[in-house]
Amino acid sequence: MTPAHRLVLVSNRGPYRLVVSPHGLRRQRTIGGLVTSVLPMMEQFGGVWVAWGEPEGRYSLPPQKPRFDLRYLSLTPEEVQGYYVGFSNRALWPVCHSFLGRVHYDPADWQVYEVVNRRFAEAALAESGEGDVIWVHDYQLARVPLHLRQARPSARLLFFWHIPFPPTEIFRTLPWRRMVLEGLLASDLVGFHIPEYARNFCEAAVELLGASVDGENITYAGRTTRVIARPIGIDYAAVDREARLPRTTAAAERLRAGLGSQTLILGVERMDYTKGIVERLRGVDVLLEQQPAWRGKFSLIQIVTPSRLEVDAYRDKKREIDEAVGRINGRFSDGLWIPIRYLHRSYTPSELLAYYRAADIALVTPLRDGLNLVAKEYVAARIAEDGVVILSEFAGVASQLPEALITNPYSQEDVADALSRALRMPRDEQRERMQAMRNRIKEQDIQWWAKGFLDGAGPGAALS
Ligand code: F6P
Repeated sequence: MTPAHRLVLVSNRGPYRLVVSPHGLRRQRTIGGLVTSVLPMMEQFGGVWVAWGEPEGRYSLPPQKPRFDLRYLSLTPEEVQGYYVGFSNRALWPVCHSFLGRVHYDPADWQVYEVVNRRFAEAALAESGEGDVIWVHDYQLARVPLHLRQARPSARLLFFWHIPFPPTEIFRTLPWRRMVLEGLLASDLVGFHIPEYARNFCEAAVELLGASVDGENITYAGRTTRVIARPIGIDYAAVDREARLPRTTAAAERLRAGLGSQTLILGVERMDYTKGIVERLRGVDVLLEQQPAWRGKFSLIQIVTPSRLEVDAYRDKKREIDEAVGRINGRFSDGLWIPIRYLHRSYTPSELLAYYRAADIALVTPLRDGLNLVAKEYVAARIAEDGVVILSEFAGVASQLPEALITNPYSQEDVADALSRALRMPRDEQRERMQAMRNRIKEQDIQWWAKGFLDGAGPGAALS
């Protein structure tokens, strides 16, 4: 992208937690699907990234060889509470994942959400000029395009929604449903991972706003917005390259040596009630109960990275997982063998890669998930082209990876059955499925995804 047409990316979460130490500024990578995909994109294409972060300021990154500028916006504790904990994670997150039992709709939270979205828009305006492309990301910032459009009518605005967009009968429970839709429709282009979410969005715009739809275009209040579906990709080449390093191989071997069983099954998620961790553990319970021959034959390593602990529902879920692991291990452990190893902490991308290399089976069974990048990273890390992916039919990525064993995470029997199929799958069949998955994830990587948006953002916006 030429300097005349810079990319200004706007998201809630930034790529690093910055820690001021006596030796200068230290960076710790943050977690989540958005950062996993968007960071390599920014490193490659350059531009400015506006996000919530402390200390407020502008940083050129990486420090040794700057590729993009990070502009951190600091929020007050009241803003964090109303905008992030409240409206984003107790209203929009549960309603969009169709967890109506968990929604908490509070008008005070909405007010703060609106104020903070305006602050993000002001920061993006200050960082951009007329010809620049402003690309806003995710449900925390649904109102930003509208504030931008009002301040700069000619702005070139893209939006990508990283989580599911629910059916209208669910979405309409949100008291501020019209405002959210109007916020997004101020963009020139709105993207979702899969056609189902794009369809739900268009239906909601028609039913709740009276918008009209013609193919990919929605017209509302005299403006036309293009709506597309394109699943976000990963930096396949970087994962594949790092997976081949001798240090990754050595780390994977160390993990397997300490296992005490033949087969390693791996689960990796943020601590979240949408991820179906307890349900999956019940599937393991059913398998060990009904097919005792598997006892002692595999170990499940379940990594859960701490997340959103400010929200009650997330703390409660942690307790439930602790109890389920204790119950199953108490019942089936035998001598040195423990069926489930539960690791509740954060891991660096390199550490996770060693787990992906070591694991024979990836167990990815969310109850609902916008896409799911763990499945993609596991596939990209399988350089020997073996391994099995067990995937929930409710993860967006299921439509991109039909060669996985697709399962219903709400059925313990289904999960147990998929596990038993995966444990018995012959190498040839693993390879055939894995090759197809690797080819697709390689082809539809982060560059493919980014180009699909930026090439459509108007003249001059195409990537070099
Ligand atoms: O991918 C969905 C998402 O909510 C991102 O928007 C976010 O960065 C990530 O998950 C992690 O969540 P959080 O930023 O709340 O820790």
